[in-house]
Amino acid sequence: MHGALPAEVGRPTNGRVSVRRRELLRAIVVVATPGVFSACADANPLAAETPAADDSARFFPQSVASGDPRPRSAVFWTRVADPERADEDLPFEFELSLDDEFREILASHADSARADADGCVKIRVTELAPDTVYYYRFAYVRDAERRRSRVGRTRTAPAADADRAVTFAVVSCQDFGGKYYHALAHAAEQGVDFFLHLGDYVYESTGDPTFQAPTAGREVVFSHPEEALDRGEGSLAARSLGNYRDLYKTYRSDPDLQRLHETVPMIAVPDDHEFSNDCYGATANYTEGRENETDLERRRNADQAWFEFMPFDHVEDPARPLDAGRAFPDDLRLYRSFAFGRHLELVVTDLRRYRPDHVVPEDAFPGSVFLAEDAARELLGAVPDDAAPYVDIDAAEHADLRVDLATHAAAQGFDDERIRGLISVPWINGIFVAAGDEAPLDAENPEFERGYAVHQLLKTAEFSSAGARYLVAEAPFSALSKLRVTETDGASERLMGDEQRRWFVDTMMGSTRTWKVWGNEYTLMPRVIDLTTINFVPPEYQQRIVLTAEDWDGAPNDRDGLLTDIAGVENVVVFTGDLHAFFAGTPHPTGAPESRVIEFVSGSVSSTTWLTGIQAAIASEPNLPPGAALIAGLVGTLLQDPASKPNPHLAWLELQRNGYALVHAGADAVEVDLVLLRAGAANIPPAELTSDVESLFTPVRFRVRAGTRELEQLIEGTYRVWDRDTMSWL
Ligand SMILES: [Fe+2]
Repeated sequence: MHGALPAEVGRPTNGRVSVRRRELLRAIVVVATPGVFSACADANPLAAETPAADDSARFFPQSVASGDPRPRSAVFWTRVADPERADEDLPFEFELSLDDEFREILASHADSARADADGCVKIRVTELAPDTVYYYRFAYVRDAERRRSRVGRTRTAPAADADRAVTFAVVSCQDFGGKYYHALAHAAEQGVDFFLHLGDYVYESTGDPTFQAPTAGREVVFSHPEEALDRGEGSLAARSLGNYRDLYKTYRSDPDLQRLHETVPMIAVPDDHEFSNDCYGATANYTEGRENETDLERRRNADQAWFEFMPFDHVEDPARPLDAGRAFPDDLRLYRSFAFGRHLELVVTDLRRYRPDHVVPEDAFPGSVFLAEDAARELLGAVPDDAAPYVDIDAAEHADLRVDLATHAAAQGFDDERIRGLISVPWINGIFVAAGDEAPLDAENPEFERGYAVHQLLKTAEFSSAGARYLVAEAPFSALSKLRVTETDGASERLMGDEQRRWFVDTMMGSTRTWKVWGNEYTLMPRVIDLTTINFVPPEYQQRIVLTAEDWDGAPNDRDGLLTDIAGVENVVVFTGDLHAFFAGTPHPTGAPESRVIEFVSGSVSSTTWLTGIQAAIASEPNLPPGAALIAGLVGTLLQDPASKPNPHLAWLELQRNGYALVHAGADAVEVDLVLLRAGAANIPPAELTSDVESLFTPVRFRVRAGTRELEQLIEGTYRVWDRDTMSWL
């Protein structure tokens, strides 16, 4: 299905281009520098032709790119660099043509690449013809000579009424250090109309031992490491604008990434690593709550570099590309939608900028009760069976207990000042027992009130991601998230923020195209494991556990609400990045499988795969019980366990392979290939491959037929439908 798309399809002859040259010129705007709009000018008539093979690499070290294709417009990008004229604005020219030899120049434009934008140039051209291949190039004008970039190719979107299928690649998570972009090389050969990048285009950290392994010659080296955050163990994280620019310049030095950009336009949204791992808003998450990590200047530096280096069209609000006059988060709007003919609406969201903190704070105190007995009755209708007894440690009757508890807890590394208010009896007893003392309280005493405490979330440390963003017990988490939603009128889970959420629902509801495709940064479908019958983990772990509360699994109420709000929209297909694993499934509002959508999670281009990442995280996480490593090895089986059926919507998974997704959206069906790279191959440089790139990849084919809400997999030549009841393909 995904054979090379004929480059000439839909291409008008020169005479049919709907705009005269003068009008086209008028439509060109330089937008690389925030707030700057330059008038057009004719090319320098004195400049002579000097084609030279190494000019492109020397003066355009990140080559060229195009993006945000629409029927009548696209954005063209380059970065002009001249080491002999650092810190100077550099004159450049841009040319657009229908042929790659530029026999006829449709448009040209001359301007300066500004030093304060690091030489980045973006040109938005309007009045283009729909569904048309264009070629473009830049020239750096020095000493009255033109030094040319490579020739780029782009393709505008089909007109809104065009009855043609659209093909695109979905990629995410392209860690650079010691990793290679075979997936991008493969995607570049598929003849797609565009590629969708769902984030982690760059990683802000260098040499993070939990998932990164840079090698000599394949690593990020900050030109000003003293400006970066020192994360210990030799790992730095970008902080200054220069640091973030270094990331993009280094990543885009890769020939396979350059080649993809030179041949296919991109539609991109950032996820967390364009700023900081597991971020929310302008807040990083490195210290697990020990420090305040909100840093508006760092966030702005990350945004500025993204804006400079991405061929992003701020068409939704052209008056404010990245507006220093506005406060975060309203200084940059990234969510937007695209129409590709009659059959594809592509809606891309921004799930990091407006989101609240995770529901369980990383510094939540393990002994504290978050849901007292009366509140549990009011919130849940009854006190749950697994509620824990608690005491008011500040009550006079517990004064002696409090003194001893504080002493023991402090010796075990807890801040004894935080032992206040309602404290869990099992936690108190555990502290005493760990100190070699006797448990002071009878947990079976019916006099005690009962509720939920933080440690029941499986958060045993005072500062930790375990029990907060990862590996959270489902029942108490469900109660806590419901409580917070009630207290905040929904804001605690509003991952899109209010304005974007309204826009998203309106756009999905209002689209008249066959397929409503949502480009979604992180996984939508629930991923729960049920350890109730697993006897090699401690008793408190023998229950249903949410693997990650960092993504949509951390916002179960808003997920239900959002899926309910769009339940009337037919033919919704969700593409997701972030997880470094492949999943296919049919998420739906709780209790309403008839309102399901279809989701494909695409694996990472090069980043450490999910299973390997989990195993490394467990090895480095001191707050996990014995048996955790064994559980990690079984996680795929547990997710699809046919006995406990924790995720009946989860039809297919692959946890150890890199790759990408290839999509073909037509009038009758969306066909999706999850394209798997041979295990381990992302660590092998292209020059050391012993086979051609094509033979490294294995596609697994799925299909969604219009009007069905059914996920089908091609198995031995026949499409079979995923059945949630039996968890099998029928
Ligand atoms: Fe990632």
